[in-house]
Amino acid sequence: MTEITTGPEAADGSGDALVVGATAGRDLGAHAAWLNGAMPWLGGHLEQAEFDGKPGQKAVITTGGAIPYATLVVVGLGEDPGAERVRRAAGSGGRATTRAVKVATTLHAGLGGDAGDAALGFLLGQYTFHRHKSEQKPTLTETLVLAGASDDDLAAVRRSEVVAEGVMMARDLINEPAMEKSPAVLASIASEMAAEVGLRIDVLDEAQIEEMGLGGLRGVSLGAANPPRLVRMWHEPEDPKAFLAIVGKGIVFDSGGLSIKPASGMEDMKTDMSGAAAVFGAMRAIARLGLPVRVVGIAPLTENMPGGAALRPGDVLKARNGKTIEVLNTDAEGRLVLADGLSLAVEEGPDLIVDMATLTGACHVALGDHIAGLFGTDAATSAVADAAETAGERVWRLPLPSDYRKQIDSEIADMRNTGKTRWGGAITAALLLKEFAGDGAWAHLDIAGPARSTDAQHYIPKGGTGFGVRTMVALAERMASDGWPASG
Ligand code: BES
Ligand code: MN
Ligand code: ZN
Repeated sequence: MTEITTGPEAADGSGDALVVGATAGRDLGAHAAWLNGAMPWLGGHLEQAEFDGKPGQKAVITTGGAIPYATLVVVGLGEDPGAERVRRAAGSGGRATTRAVKVATTLHAGLGGDAGDAALGFLLGQYTFHRHKSEQKPTLTETLVLAGASDDDLAAVRRSEVVAEGVMMARDLINEPAMEKSPAVLASIASEMAAEVGLRIDVLDEAQIEEMGLGGLRGVSLGAANPPRLVRMWHEPEDPKAFLAIVGKGIVFDSGGLSIKPASGMEDMKTDMSGAAAVFGAMRAIARLGLPVRVVGIAPLTENMPGGAALRPGDVLKARNGKTIEVLNTDAEGRLVLADGLSLAVEEGPDLIVDMATLTGACHVALGDHIAGLFGTDAATSAVADAAETAGERVWRLPLPSDYRKQIDSEIADMRNTGKTRWGGAITAALLLKEFAGDGAWAHLDIAGPARSTDAQHYIPKGGTGFGVRTMVALAERMASDGWPASG
């Protein structure tokens, strides 16, 4: 990974590229104003390029030796920027400089964000997934110099490096073709990671899944040639301030099963394990940060495939907590595996349970590509919403109306796995999860929209985004400082 260091003020340094921010009206700010002296034509050039400092705007300028950097990248921050604007600007700057070996920036200074924000945006912005290209692309930026930063700024940078590694681990797993990430393979990647960062881990195989009564996970796995796994990992510090459980949907490929999906877009269903990937990435970061909060991460992993032994519409499954589910549609499989994941989370006795799942197309329709649906109890949803806000991930609360519960009433079982009508599909799915989430604090994030991006923007690449990792780390940090219920 790119090495991030402090260095001299940008005016006194050098490199292949310099990334600076401009606020509304092309104001370069105190740390980059010297550029106007070194390149008197800069203002006119930016004006010509219709760059006026709005968020999302970017100008890439060849300096021709006017300053000791071959390329100048000016990124827009808009009026009155804050931490997230700085992260996004750094992400755009990072994407514009992937071929520059040494990059300097002033984005951390006086623009509403800190060195950690500039570092995080830059690292996430430079992410690419290229391991299946026969010709490997040139290496990334080797050094990012935070021009004029002090050693005190480096603590935030080290945290961002850890968070970025967690996010990028999740992205790598999400982008991997399904044929490369069978449940057993994913579980062994998780085990290697756990060993590396000091997490305790246990992996349930097919026989144990059946023996322990994980009937939802077993049911979904019946059509698949690759057997299921259930991964549990624990971060157990000395003197924990609170106990958090995170659960992630891990469908390594969702064909729909016998209720098969249409061919168009089915390839995207390799990303249906984004919740599990976010659990792994977050657990890795939480362990590396050594946060004084106990955390258990749970990921039920399987493929949802048709086949001679596959789960049929009409079948009834019994989940770990004893409740039964009539399967009306085998494509509503996420809630079946989460029923078991959540039941196991409840058994751990945590203060708070959060699950993350690419659960419903309905939630994607409701909130679009960039916002996750947030459901759950009051204390849990406000804690998750606050953590998401801090982290720069967007969530929006949706209701769990008790009178909608009859949508999932079944004649022959405790509930059915789809609503009687298609309306409110994200809600009926969440209402089913609620049956398995116990009586304590619980939040559910439906990440069907933001888990995957159709195009690259700022620090979000095309493909898997790693959505959820940053919110879970922020949540764990918050619980580590304030405990649960929050006392800070
Ligand atoms: N994994 C899908 C949801 C999904 C769809 C995520 C598109 C990301 C993009 C989930 O398993 C599913 O198929 N849900 C069905 C539920 C329906 C059958 C009640 C859906 O949303 O159509
Ligand atoms: Mn499905
Ligand atoms: Zn699915």
